[in-house]
Amino acid sequence: MLIKKPDAFKPSEITPEAVYLQRRTFIQGAGLGLGAMLLPGMGMAALDANQPIKDIARYTGDWQGSTLAPDWLRQKVSQARPSRHLAQEPSTPWDIVTTYNNFYEFGTDKGDPAEHASDFKTDPWQVEIAGQAEITGSFNLEDILKPHDLEERIYRLRCVEAWSMVVPWVGFPLADLLKRFKPTSKAKYVRFETLFDPKQMPGQRSRFAALDYPYREGLRIDEAMNELAFVGVGLYGNAMPPQNGAPLRLVLPWKYGFKSIKSIVKIEFLEYRPVSSWERSNPKEYGFYANVNPQVSHPRWSQASERRLPTSLFSPNRRPTLMFNGYGDEVAHLYAGMNLRNDY
Ligand code: MTE
Repeated sequence: MLIKKPDAFKPSEITPEAVYLQRRTFIQGAGLGLGAMLLPGMGMAALDANQPIKDIARYTGDWQGSTLAPDWLRQKVSQARPSRHLAQEPSTPWDIVTTYNNFYEFGTDKGDPAEHASDFKTDPWQVEIAGQAEITGSFNLEDILKPHDLEERIYRLRCVEAWSMVVPWVGFPLADLLKRFKPTSKAKYVRFETLFDPKQMPGQRSRFAALDYPYREGLRIDEAMNELAFVGVGLYGNAMPPQNGAPLRLVLPWKYGFKSIKSIVKIEFLEYRPVSSWERSNPKEYGFYANVNPQVSHPRWSQASERRLPTSLFSPNRRPTLMFNGYGDEVAHLYAGMNLRNDY
């Protein structure tokens, strides 16, 4: 056996045997028709805790999608250094992280983004910076990313649908990006926007679209500047796959996954609190803050526990959900004095 010094490993290179075996069980579970036994989708404009895993096995195996990223980006991502934010838990296998997705622009089934985003064009890519900042304008992806050294962070991801994963992301702190544009004292919030391109994104063409596109998300400026808020440009040491939000997305591990907006084309500094897409579609079910909170149920299901993927019929892998997804030490102070039952 080849033995590397521990610091020569990237954490994502290590796939414990138990995880490998779980992965096989998961895929077999899906193949046995697990999906068919679960409830069908609950209809429009509703994330769904029980959505079936559709044909997941179809997408496993060698996946070439991130080769759509330009060479300079793939090289930059491959040079990422480990950071101090490394969840001490096994990472969810690559083939699950990249085939069990929510990216409604490419369809509402979990397998749709991997299938429909495989040709998604993310080069060239522009990001517009607007609003209450000294520096605004349109920037090439390369100019957006150039000054930032990339690092690997292994974060838990908790979806509002009550499943969770552990993902080795590559990226850099959101605060470092935002500060470059010198937000003014009027910048109290930041809004993010996903690409609007119905030609490429079938979900945006649908007459029964679940959401009012473009997908938008927002943060209070102090949340955006928190150490944990991360801009993801890759995962598992590869450039970000399209279905996971290429070429750049947010990663906000203490909030429900829908806050982690994908494929960002616009960042706007605002004086007022923006309304995010899920909040607009159903404000009773999805709040602006969306902090992971086991004590506040979703109107249609409990948030007290979660299914850690991979799961199977015989191994549901259910575990208690932690307040702020276990990141309270870093973020609880942001919400001191707030009633998180009202500000959900
Ligand atoms: N961003 C956009 N633009 N469109 C989406 O549908 N889904 C969100 C979030 N970001 C979504 C999005 C939800 S509900 C979740 S749980 C996460 O992306 C899932 O990220 P993943 O597919 O990389 O696991």
